[in-house]
Amino acid sequence: MSRTALVTGGTRGIGKAISVHLKQAGYQVAANYGGNDEAAKAFTDETGIMAVKFDVADYAAVGEGLATITAELGPVDIVVNNAGVTRDAPFHRMTLEQWQQVIDIDLTSAFNVTRQVWDGMRERGFGRIVNISSINGQKGQFGQANYSAAKAGLIGFTKALAQEGAKKGITVNVVAPGYIDTEMVRAVPENVLEGIIATIPVGRLGKAEEIASMCAYLASEDAGFITGATMTVNGAQYIAG
Ligand code: CAA
Repeated sequence: MSRTALVTGGTRGIGKAISVHLKQAGYQVAANYGGNDEAAKAFTDETGIMAVKFDVADYAAVGEGLATITAELGPVDIVVNNAGVTRDAPFHRMTLEQWQQVIDIDLTSAFNVTRQVWDGMRERGFGRIVNISSINGQKGQFGQANYSAAKAGLIGFTKALAQEGAKKGITVNVVAPGYIDTEMVRAVPENVLEGIIATIPVGRLGKAEEIASMCAYLASEDAGFITGATMTVNGAQYIAG
């Protein structure tokens, strides 16, 4: 039976492209989502991929979601921790709630999911964890102290776990997208977004599929020697050392 993959936030935006790409690569895929039932239904109708609703910020809810997926598709071998939100504000106006929501949904979620698939991956001697960070976790971004902290946190999390998983056949990597043409980026005020696009040497926003293909590669058997890495996919907007 083919391996099973879970993509968090997998019914919309970059996550949707990742879910579809993994299905095309031959995996059984479950796409998690948090709240938008209508989009999830449309996603399943269009792709035939199972959508599973649970709050990635809630450890117990993640456990229940994973139990549903395991019962339907078997144990999860591949996780793409993609779910994320923004709550942008200059720091002098950022509230504790805006901080906490982003840390919980964008960073603690990766603990909640990964911790609950980790033991099974260790036992089976195979696992692939792909954490979706951001250019703004690498370079920082005005108005995103919360998001930059969470996305940088994912990079540290990855580097530590890569060392722990290595002997058990588990790879742990980061994909750090630049500005990709999704609802999240389109929500940036138009004049601000124009300024951002002007700083992308490739001269355009990225496509969700360009992130998905990197994730599928990292999930593959071929990528077994790549672990602890940060794969930057940003049109040269920021060239990390
Ligand atoms: N650097 C320096 N100064 C900046 C700045 C920047 N990048 N952006 C804004 N400012 C300054 C402005 O010049 C302005 O200064 P003055 O008061 O002296 O004129 C001041 O900050 C206030 O700017 P705004 O009028 O824009 O303030 P605002 O409160 O309406 O909005 C903001 C602030 C929310 C940060 C807004 O500028 C914004 O949305 N910026 C974009 C943030 C961003 O890039 N988010 C990414 C979202 S997509 C994503 O996160 C996906 C991913 O992974 C890439």
